[in-house]
Order: sequence, then C-alpha cells, then structure tokens
Amino acid sequence: MFYEPESGHGLPHDPFKAIVAPRPIGWISTRSKSGALNLSPYSYFNAISDHPHLVIFSSSGHKDSVAFIEETGEFAANLVSGNLREQMNASSVNAPRGVSEFDYAGLTPAPCKLIGAPRVAEAYAVLECAVTDIRVPTDRHGKPSRNFLVTGEVVGIHIDEAILTDGLVDVRKAKPVSRLGYMDYATVSDVYQMWRPRWDESER
Ligand SMILES: Cc1cc2nc3c(=O)[nH]c(=O)nc-3n(C[C@H](O)[C@H](O)[C@H](O)COP(=O)(O)O)c2cc1C
Repeated sequence: MFYEPESGHGLPHDPFKAIVAPRPIGWISTRSKSGALNLSPYSYFNAISDHPHLVIFSSSGHKDSVAFIEETGEFAANLVSGNLREQMNASSVNAPRGVSEFDYAGLTPAPCKLIGAPRVAEAYAVLECAVTDIRVPTDRHGKPSRNFLVTGEVVGIHIDEAILTDGLVDVRKAKPVSRLGYMDYATVSDVYQMWRPRWDESER
C-alpha cells in the first residue's frame, strides 16, 4: 500500500509511529524556577550529535517540561530500564502543574551535579543537559506545527556501574525500554555486532 498522510491511511490506527520504531524514551526531568519538579517520558527523543553531545525531544504542545525548561534552560534525560517501565508510564499522567510525577510514580529525585533539575535516582543512566535551542518546527508550507523541539547539550553523564561489563555499557544489563507504535513497547534483547565495510580499490 501507499498513502499520503494528509489524505489518510485507511487503517484502523495511524501506523506512523509503528513504522518509525523502536524509539528510545527520554525520561525528561525538570525543576521550575519556583522549585516544582516535573518528570515525563518523551519518545520523540534521540541523540543527534557526538561533538558536541546533543540530544533532542519534541513536545506535542506547550507542556510543563517545556515551560520549566524555558524558565531554567536545563533538563535531565533519564533512560528507562525494563524494571522501571510501570513507573515511567505512571509519570506520563496529566497531573496538574505543581504535582511532582516523582511522588506520583514512587520514584526518588536525586540532585544532578551540574544543573538544578533533579534526576531519577533509580535510572541506569542520566544525561544532564543545558538547553541550546527551543524551536517550533513547521510543515513544508512554513505553517508552524504545535510542537516544541528542545535541543540540549549533554554536560554531564551518570552511569550506574552495575550495567558495565569490562568497561562497556552492556544493554543486556541495562535492558532499555523502547516505544513502538500503538500501545506497544519493547525491551532490547537481541544484541549482535557488525563492522562497517571499507572500500578496497584493488578489488575493482
Ligand atoms: C512512552 C511515552 C512516550 C511519550 N512521548 C511523548 C512525546 O514524544 N511527546 C509528547 O509531547 N508527549 C509524549 N508522551 C506524553 C507525555 O509524557 C505526557 O503528555 C506528559 O504528561 C507530559 O507531561 P508534562 O506536561 O508534565 O511535561 C509520551 C508518553 C509516554 C507514556
């Protein structure tokens, strides 16, 4: 089948997010200027650059995470392991501003080292981020979308040493949760190696 998203897909549910899957989950924690804590999962999240380390997430609307980040210029991106999936899901509750999802989901806010935002003490890795850019992306006609694209430079990284094997991050131990389409999730289980090919002129 082929369809143009603007004209509809004709399927029971929009397949877009099931096609662009799996997506990592950035579990974004923030602190407002007045000290309120916020924690929410975002699967429109990824690392986009090595030098500098940049991560990005997209908020569909002006949610509390974006409002707090606008006030402080900081956020932490916590990574979600399989054993924290229920707490991650709980933290997506549409709680009124001022209610901490840390409390609601039964998680422990721990201080970050370089930023004022809290981190999830139970997370196997946390990226402390300083915001570099907040943008409203447009469609191809230049019409603004209702999304806020937040980019942050990673200024500090926490790793729970329990997920290391011989100094390497071992995803079999971390068991990261990823978002698929519909109500589906997956935990990484199949890990294998591949090396990039090198062009060999002598074989031409
Ligand atoms: C796994 C998962 C992924 C989500 N990804 C996004 C996302 O990428 N963008 C978004 O706007 N909302 C996303 N949501 C919904 C937000 O987490 C939810 O709206 C949250 O309440 C926002 O909270 P806030 O207003 O406190 O920032 C996701 C929810 C879940 C459970």
